[in-house]
Amino acid sequence: MKIAPSLLSCDFSVMGQEIERMDKAGADWMHLDIMDGHFVPNITFGAPVIKCVRKYTDKPFDVHLMITDPLKYIDDFADSGADIITFHIECDSDIDKTIEKIKSRGIKAGLVIKPKTPAEAVFEYLDKIDLVLVMTVEPGFGGQSFMADMMPKVKAIRDEANRRGLDITIEADGGIGEATIAQCADAGVDVCVAGTAVFRAEDAAKAIAALQKY
Ligand code: DX5
Ligand code: ZN
Repeated sequence: MKIAPSLLSCDFSVMGQEIERMDKAGADWMHLDIMDGHFVPNITFGAPVIKCVRKYTDKPFDVHLMITDPLKYIDDFADSGADIITFHIECDSDIDKTIEKIKSRGIKAGLVIKPKTPAEAVFEYLDKIDLVLVMTVEPGFGGQSFMADMMPKVKAIRDEANRRGLDITIEADGGIGEATIAQCADAGVDVCVAGTAVFRAEDAAKAIAALQKY
């Protein structure tokens, strides 16, 4: 299993060092949660911050946009150094145009589905995207409980991708740690986001290694 620590749980006063710490601890990707206080009831940070911390690692920056109008900001996030940009299918932007915009910048594109959105919602876009992110909590905050009932959605997306011969990466996000990651692995998740489980651990390297075993 690939592990993407969510910087939402880091010490923002030293975000660059936190990224360096996660890099040394063996993180596969860095997960950056962008919230606009409108699409979700919380505000985090934007592209200028990503640009500043980009130099602290060479590992992929996985930028998760929880914003109402992602299309408007794709250039900003592309310029900031994102390697993967995911945005919500429940947003207000035109989905096809947003996917095309991300890909036109040479960046991997992914769609995110909230817990109440069915797996089938992404099927019509599967051949155009690189990744599907299945939320295993309601987006907005770290430290929530894992929703095990999202696992059938992961299986449904994997089955549909296999049926069409598509090589899609499936990522899960929210409440993932040692007690819940086995369920993600069994369902066919490739990359797990982990905020609290990694940042609250006494030894981040140990915590990441334990999760990567799955
Ligand atoms: C929630 C974010 C997640 C969150 C994960 O809206 O998308 O990335 O930070 O944090 P944990 O692992 O603590 O649930
Ligand atoms: Zn996230």
